[in-house]
Amino acid sequence: MRYSDDVIMDVRQANDIVDVIGEYVILKKKGTNYFGLCPFHGEKTPSFSVNREKQIFHCFGCGVGGGVFKFIELQESLSFTESLEFLANRINYKLPDKIVSQDDLIRQETKEKLWELHKAAARFFYECLVSDLGKPATDYLNMRGVSNAARIKFGIGYAPDSWNSLNDHLLKEGFPQELIAQSGLVKQGSSGKYYDRFRNRVMFPIIDISGHVIAFGGRRLSENKEEAKYLNSPDTEIFSKSYNPYNLNLARQGHPDEFILVEGYMDVISLYQAGFKNAIAACGTAFNEKHAGVIKRFTHNIIALFDSDNAGENAALKAIPVLKNAGINMKILQVPNAKDPDEYINNFGAEAFGKLIKTAVNPMLFRINVLKKQLVPDNPDSVILFTQKVTEILSETDNLSELDIYINTAIKGTPVSTESLRSDIRRIKGMTDDPSDNSRTYARQYKNTAASGAVEEAKSTLINIIANDKLLFQRLDGVFSKEEFDDDMYVRLFDIVERAHKKDAPITAADLLTLLEPENPEYVKRAEAVLWSQLPYTNADQRHSALLSAVKIIKTAHVDSLMRKTEDDELMSKLIDEKRNIENSLKALTI
Ligand code: CTP
Ligand code: MN
Repeated sequence: MRYSDDVIMDVRQANDIVDVIGEYVILKKKGTNYFGLCPFHGEKTPSFSVNREKQIFHCFGCGVGGGVFKFIELQESLSFTESLEFLANRINYKLPDKIVSQDDLIRQETKEKLWELHKAAARFFYECLVSDLGKPATDYLNMRGVSNAARIKFGIGYAPDSWNSLNDHLLKEGFPQELIAQSGLVKQGSSGKYYDRFRNRVMFPIIDISGHVIAFGGRRLSENKEEAKYLNSPDTEIFSKSYNPYNLNLARQGHPDEFILVEGYMDVISLYQAGFKNAIAACGTAFNEKHAGVIKRFTHNIIALFDSDNAGENAALKAIPVLKNAGINMKILQVPNAKDPDEYINNFGAEAFGKLIKTAVNPMLFRINVLKKQLVPDNPDSVILFTQKVTEILSETDNLSELDIYINTAIKGTPVSTESLRSDIRRIKGMTDDPSDNSRTYARQYKNTAASGAVEEAKSTLINIIANDKLLFQRLDGVFSKEEFDDDMYVRLFDIVERAHKKDAPITAADLLTLLEPENPEYVKRAEAVLWSQLPYTNADQRHSALLSAVKIIKTAHVDSLMRKTEDDELMSKLIDEKRNIENSLKALTI
């Protein structure tokens, strides 16, 4: 279903593009535009720009652009309608009731049933934990120092050492076997019989931000090392490992400035007990851009703590570009003197942990430190390799004042000199760091390609002007007809403008793009490029004369193209007359 233009425009207007994008990208004002690092391609100097007046963005690096809807579509991987709903939600705008398809209805029902089933399962596991059956699990939780309060807060439970106790329980509660199988909490054996996925495990419910239990992680209690230490629910209709970090529901409460990212369930719980309630963990998968996308809805800052083993170090190095590309500020730390944050807190206490996380460093320093550790620069060969690698890392930074700090850290304790490192970096970078310089160059390049030709420019000027000026739009009546554009994209844009003026609602370039998208998505990219290059006409006289010359150029081009096509002499002479008459026909517009 499609929402009305009015709704689309309401939502668009109440979501200022600079504010919305500012929640994802750090923007700096430079002249009339805001600049930042493009979230859609890796870049080191900002070529991503946002214009508040026009309410559109454009990346001079990778060419993406559009209005606020387009941004959210790309950023959150949503469809047009979903991004409308996302932005409506952002401003608490109540959308008119949507007529949903039968499929959507069924899917929503299934989700609701699965939530209910997971709630029943969580209750069952909890009952088992506190019953006599739960002894192995309570022993374990006592040993790990998990308080009663934390057990309740996190809904921790116990899956008994049995092949079918959960399945039987859920059947008894009236859940159909098919749904139970769909939940992933039971599996079907080759004989066709169903059996519980989790057996003799401590159960950690994974809860979404609306409070639904959507999956479980289960820790092995048996000594049998052949079984996985942790087992998670499979992805289902309501759960995806990559979109549902553990503890997001509690961590987001109180709107913390940052999240602490850790590796394990037990780390999250230990931190919570030590007073750090903003910890989350990826559920047994490498931290990826989907996690980053979810996290960004709540905070742009992360302190990432990784286990002290090699796996932790690798995970840390892998997470750095993911967070960076997502535009999340990251501080990073590999836990020293203990295998993970949980052990650290148990050994050294909450206060020491509080001090520890203050020592987290930015990714650049972290990488330099890892490099130094790996390549102790004490013999000539390793010095050369170290210098090469550290130069590569350092030349990624755009911040010249920070560079000095990094260089000092890098060379400390090595025979490498500041000067030699600095000149290596300069050589690699070999470019200016002033974003406005770069954007000027891009703008020049782009003008020559995308918006080539006076005719194209005239068409875009015309649209741009009449969108905002009803009087001038009305003056075109009888003087200009949209067919003269000879270009379907402009005809569509003209239709939208016409529709808006009929309702007395002048629109901006951003509205045009937004309204064009659901109808003619194929035109959006081009329309965006065309409209971005447009000057804002604030002065009525300027608008008038610009419109006049634009109409003239378009009409002339139109007649020219007809003349090129025709072989009919009679028509040709008519066209010649028409062309001569263009000036005249514009008289109506001049006064
Ligand atoms: N994990 C997981 N699924 C796996 C393995 C690991 O979800 N198959 C996640 C869990 O969040 C787990 C974390 O990775 O807590 C760390 O795993 P591991 O290093 O094996 O845990 P330990 O710290 O050794 O285990 P514990 O603290 O529970 O004794
Ligand atoms: Mn652990």
